[in-house]
Parts: sequence; C-alpha cells; structure tokens
Amino acid sequence: MAEPLLVAEGIEMTYSDGGRVEALAETSLAVGRGEFVCLLGPSGCGKSTLLHILGGLRRPTAGQVLFDGRPLRSPQQRIAYVFQKANLMPWRTALANVALPLEVRGVPRAEAAARAHEMLALVGLTGFAGSYPRRLSGGMEQRVAIARALVQGAEVLLLDEPFGSLDALTREQLNEELLRIWQAQQLTVVMVTHSIAEAVFLADRVLVLTSRPGRLALELPVTLPRPRPWDAASPTQARLAGELRRAIAQWSAGFEVGA
Ligand SMILES: Nc1ncnc2c1ncn2[C@@H]1O[C@H](COP(=O)(O)OP(=O)(O)OP(=O)(O)O)[C@@H](O)[C@H]1O
Ligand SMILES: [Mg+2]
Repeated sequence: MAEPLLVAEGIEMTYSDGGRVEALAETSLAVGRGEFVCLLGPSGCGKSTLLHILGGLRRPTAGQVLFDGRPLRSPQQRIAYVFQKANLMPWRTALANVALPLEVRGVPRAEAAARAHEMLALVGLTGFAGSYPRRLSGGMEQRVAIARALVQGAEVLLLDEPFGSLDALTREQLNEELLRIWQAQQLTVVMVTHSIAEAVFLADRVLVLTSRPGRLALELPVTLPRPRPWDAASPTQARLAGELRRAIAQWSAGFEVGA
C-alpha cells in the first residue's frame, strides 16, 4: 500500500442515546494515499458510523483516527463527505450551492464563483451553473453534491452510498465519472456501497464488515487492471465478485448478495 493517509486504530462505537447500541467492535484499518476503498456490509452493520468517524464527524467511544499522521478530532477541509441524498439548497442555483462552503469561509464572491465553475466543469455540469435543483435530475444533483464536497480542495472523499437512489444506467455513468474525478484530482476515496459489482468495478481494495456489532470480516484486494469493464464480463472480475459473494454469504445471511 502507498503511504497510509487515513488510519483507524482500535475504533469502537457504542451509541447510548436511548438505549445502548454497540455499533462497532474493535476495528482497525488503514487507507493509503490515492487508494480507492469500498466498504460493504449488511444494513445496520456500522458502515455509516465508521465513515462518520473516519471523517471526524463523530468521535468513537474508543480508539482513534489518524489523518496524515495526526489525531483527527473534528471535520477537516481536507476531508470531503457525500451522502446518499444531495441535500442541495433549493433556492440556490447549482453554482451557488457549490460556492456555498467557500462563501461561508469568507472567500470573496468572485473567487468562490470561479472555483465553483471549475468544480462544475469537473463533474460535467458546465452548462447548468444557473439551474436550480428542481430542474436537475437525481444524477445531476449528486454531481453538484460532489462538486460542492470537493470545492475546498479536499484530498479525501468519503462517500456514503452516493448513487444508491439512482437508476442503474445513471449509476453506472456516475461510477465512471467518479473514477475519472478520483484520478484527475488524485483523491483518496472511501465509499460505502451495497453492490458487490460496484465495489469490484471501483475499488483497489474491498473491506467487508459483519454486523452486531460491526467489525471487519474480510479484506479483498482488487488487482484488476484499469479501465475495467462495467458489465463484469471479464473472467477475473466475475471470479472476484463470486469470491466476495461467497465470503460475505458465510458471515451474513440476508445480505444483498445479488446486487
Ligand atoms: N445516532 C444513533 N443513535 C443510536 N444508534 C444508532 C445511531 N446511528 C446508528 N445507530 C445504530 O448503529 C448501528 C449501525 O448503524 P449504521 O447507520 O452505521 O449502519 P449502516 O451499516 O450504515 O446501515 P445501512 O446499510 O442501513 O445504511 C445500527 O444498529 C443503528 O441502529
Ligand atoms: Mg448507512
């Protein structure tokens, strides 16, 4: 692995608001600079919890996260987050939504707008700067969300099922776009997905969590050359997906292995 950029050491997480839920048992992992890691696991196994902790949005009950060698205690500009829903502000244009994090930081308006234009170009939305969210498709909204997440020059992109609510074709297209952006911006990516095919298409490494409480069950490097075919037609891709499916089935009945 390249030099580790994001390291989780002995993370444990127990929620205690309204009853105790042990969401994560001792979990350690390291994500290399420039690596693309996918996180798979059954619903409720703690994927979002782990991602929040990796992003400094939530403090673990035990253990620590090191970002670039330093303990991570709060959200950082260098770490961007994209959720399943874009949550754009309906009264702001695509451009104004992307520029918002910069405006909040007091970046002059013209400079913020110029940077936001660059980001919209990066996600393929050059012609939609003046569009309001209600005029954008779900896929376009997620592109705007990615542009907004990256506008502050983040090095790490954490994605929590970002394309889960999109139709299969749009999802495929956005996965291709995501790989292009990952390479163009030299990002380090950790992405939660429910889809084994998606993980094998995107990732350098797939981490699988088990549930109750969540813990790392399996780690599978995906050593396929890029670009990879999306249709899983390549025998190696199919073999890896099968391997993952079987391993997951051993741990978690009911996990969406067909996805
Ligand atoms: N704020 C919270 N307070 C209490 N319990 C929580 C909270 N957030 C999550 N949990 C519990 O922690 C466990 C892990 O939840 P988490 O959302 O991390 O799972 P997940 O793997 O992301 O699930 P999904 O695939 O459905 O998104 C679950 O049992 C959930 O009910
Ligand atoms: Mg989740």
